[in-house]
Amino acid sequence: MTTTPAPARTPAESAVRLAHIMSEHDTNLYGTVHGGVVMKLIDDAAAAAAGRHAGVPAVTASVQGMSFLAPVRAGDLLTVHARVERAGRTSMDVSVAVTSERWNLTGPVTDVATARLVFVAIGPDSRPHPVPALLPDPPEESPA
Ligand SMILES: CC(C)(COP(=O)(O)OP(=O)(O)OC[C@H]1O[C@@H](n2cnc3c(N)ncnc32)[C@H](O)[C@@H]1OP(=O)(O)O)[C@@H](O)C(=O)NCCC(=O)NCCS
Repeated sequence: MTTTPAPARTPAESAVRLAHIMSEHDTNLYGTVHGGVVMKLIDDAAAAAAGRHAGVPAVTASVQGMSFLAPVRAGDLLTVHARVERAGRTSMDVSVAVTSERWNLTGPVTDVATARLVFVAIGPDSRPHPVPALLPDPPEESPA
């Protein structure tokens, strides 16, 4: 088994956007969505971004921070944006931003949660596996 990491990648190459419509099954007695439901979507999107960067599956090692900024309701379209911010030897820091819109997409987009997690790439031997270096994103092209 090789322990050589894949070629370096930019955050944009591994970024993940996960969209999900909240239902009545996701809500608590107050009619708002359980924090745990949002946390699972955050973990799913962050794991996908980390795995995409690493080229192998990645497991959650720690949650560095999690903030819930506004309530989410049944019928809201939740969008989870995950992006690798740092690549270590086998670990990666992933930042996540969550937004919500009413299902008919006519209202404002609201920031509802942010999180920062650490993932560790796992190789075929089930041990931590080297990850590619993280390149800076290229500067955005200004409109002509
Ligand atoms: C995460 C895990 C693979 C680390 O294994 P380990 O044998 O402790 O790994 P190492 O000591 O060799 O460390 C490997 C990397 O992980 C990082 N790391 C380990 N534990 C960490 C933690 N709690 N928080 C942040 N980073 C951590 C190390 O800093 C190191 O980073 P680097 O290679 O970029 O320098 C192991 O603890 C594990 O399998 N945990 C359970 C993961 C899991 O099931 N997640 C889902 C939970 S619901």
